[in-house]
Order: sequence, then structure tokens, then C-alpha cells
Amino acid sequence: MKKALSILLSASLLAGVMTSFAFAEEAETAADHSDQTIGIAMPTKSLERWNRDGEYLKEQFEEAGYSVQLKYSDNDIEQQNNDISNMIADGVDLLIIAAIDGESLTQTLADAKDAEIPVIAYDRLIMETDAISYYVSFDNYTVGVLQGQFVIDSLGLDIDNTEDSYNIEFTAGDPADNNAGYFFNGAYDTLEPFIEAGILNIPSGKTSFEQVATPAWSTDTALENFQNTLASYYSDGTVLDIALCSNDSTALGVAQAIQSDYAGDNTPIVTGQDGDIANLQNIVDGIQTMTVYKNVSDEAGVTLVLAEAILEGETPDEGLLEELDAEAAFDTESYDNGTGIIPSYLLVPWTVTVDNLEDLVETGLYEWDEDEKYLVSTAK
Ligand code: GAL
Repeated sequence: MKKALSILLSASLLAGVMTSFAFAEEAETAADHSDQTIGIAMPTKSLERWNRDGEYLKEQFEEAGYSVQLKYSDNDIEQQNNDISNMIADGVDLLIIAAIDGESLTQTLADAKDAEIPVIAYDRLIMETDAISYYVSFDNYTVGVLQGQFVIDSLGLDIDNTEDSYNIEFTAGDPADNNAGYFFNGAYDTLEPFIEAGILNIPSGKTSFEQVATPAWSTDTALENFQNTLASYYSDGTVLDIALCSNDSTALGVAQAIQSDYAGDNTPIVTGQDGDIANLQNIVDGIQTMTVYKNVSDEAGVTLVLAEAILEGETPDEGLLEELDAEAAFDTESYDNGTGIIPSYLLVPWTVTVDNLEDLVETGLYEWDEDEKYLVSTAK
């Protein structure tokens, strides 16, 4: 007993020594950057993912030894402009911005450029400004393709078999968010051959992005819009097979509308994007069918490696991919913000369903709660 205890003690002592070595090493690297401040502007706390993005960015930059200013602007365009202006006035060394409205930061970012502050557009491209050095995001078009492909695979759609047909409705994102069109187009383009062949029908006739867009990605607006669609086109017993939603916040509203207002007894396919906790629970409960998962901890990690290179005076290119811990592509073709192509690092999204949901535990960002039978976040 005594012996076991002493082995245990010396093991933990050794672990302690090793940890302090690790800390010493970290502290050494950390000290190099302590005079540099990173300004981070996130759109809102009302959508879960941005809380995670903000937390991971802050944590990872601080661990690397930088000082961090983190601002959330409550989905208010004027406030975001003010928050960014204040960070410029404070003399931050680099800005990371997830824009509320991609078109509304031109003047503020001209000030950043004058002050020689590099800007990384985070997740959402910022339009009409030449102050952006780089764009870090996921492959936005692929997000929509994965949603469309999921529908094809789960219904076993076959372009040569026009005997079976299904009804689908789309819900898209915020028109102010440059990503929203990519998501919608990725899904629509993937399904278009089946729509044209009459295998997929859209009873509402709402086939364009503008008709199904959801300002601010609001759950309540998505709920209301979908209740209207159900009342107008499905109250006569028309069967709804698929509700293709661009992301999780809109999927929450749509799923709620289906639960309260849909008369049919089938369970329509409901797609999403992000892997927000409420949606992961809905997937377990069979209320949502899939989500396109974005590992935003990896997105923060890629942003850190990129920011460090920029701050060291480098001009990062494809070579930076070797330094990343996450799979990504370097893209110099897809994202023109109106002033030219913005070089982009694009991470890879993947499909999560009830069948592979527990794989998320391997990211280290979630734990499986045995009592609740749900995933819980390990984020603070
Ligand atoms: C997009 C983002 C998505 C989703 C959405 C709603 O720009 O890429 O992941 O979160 O905004 O906030």
C-alpha cells in the first residue's frame, strides 16, 4: 500500500516537474508577443457558434502570448464599426473580424489600412475594401453541397427514376452575410437536376435566395416564415419531405414550425450547419436530421498561425498549409470582395448525423453525457 502510494506520489511529482517545464517553455514563447495586441470583432452572442469562435480565438491567442481585445457587437452594424474604430484607436497590431454586414465596414477599414493594421476577414468575407489581407473560413459552397448531397443519399434519389417525387422547401441565411449565398447555391445547384426532372418539387414556388433569406439568421424569423409556408401550401395535406435549412439557428425555427404546424405524420428531413448544442440534441431526438459541422477551434487555430506569420512580416501563401494542424486549402480564385481576389484559407466541413455524432467527442470539444444521452460542450 505504502509502496503504491509512493510510486503514485513520485509519478505525480514527475508529472508536476514536466508540466512546469512545459509551462516554462510556453512562457518563453509567450513572452515574445506580450507587447502585441490582437483585436477580435465578433458579430453577436445570440448565435452559439460565435460564442465558441470568440472563446477559442481568445484562448489560443493568449496561450501564444498575445494580448487580446474581444468585442461582440450585438448584430448592430454601427456598433461593430465603433468597436473596430476603438480598437484601431487603441493601436491593436492586427484585427480579426467576422462582419455583421459584409458591405458596411469600408470606411472603418480604410482607417485600419492607414494605421497599417493588417486585417483578417474571419469566416465571412468583408466586401468593398482593400484593407483585407486574408480570408479564413470553411469552404462555404461545399457546406451547401453537403446538405444537398445528404438529401440525395438519404432518399436514394436517382435522376433516371422519375416515378417517386418529393416535396422540398428551402430556408436560407442573412442577405448581409456574404456566405449565405454560397450555402444556398451549393445546395440548390446540387439538387437542381432533380428539381428540373420533377423528382423534387417546391410547392411554395420559392426557388430564389431572396425569397427564402432570413435576416440576421434569426430563429424566430425562420419559424414565422416556415409557419406561413406550411399554412399556405401544406394545410391541404400536402406532404413535406425536406426542409433544407442553411444553418442551425434557422433549422431550430423550422423544426419548431414543423412540430407545431405541420399536419402530416412523416418526419421531414431537416438540414443545418454549425453543430450548435441545441441542434445536436435535436439530432439525437430525431427533430433535425443532419448538420454540417464546422470545427471552429480549428478555424481559430488556422487564424493564429496566419496572424503570427503576418506579424512576423511574412506574406503567407500555400506553404503555410504545412504549419497548420487542421486540413485546409489555399484558394486564390474563389473570393473576390469587389477590390480583387482575397487569398483564402478554407477549412473542410463535414456531415454529422445521429450515426456519427459521437465522433465529435474526438475533437475534444464535446463530452457524451451518459445520464442525459446528449453531447455537452467542454467549452467554458
Ligand atoms: C455564417 C457562418 C455560419 C453560420 C451563420 C450564422 O456566416 O459561416 O457558420 O454560423 O453565419 O451565424
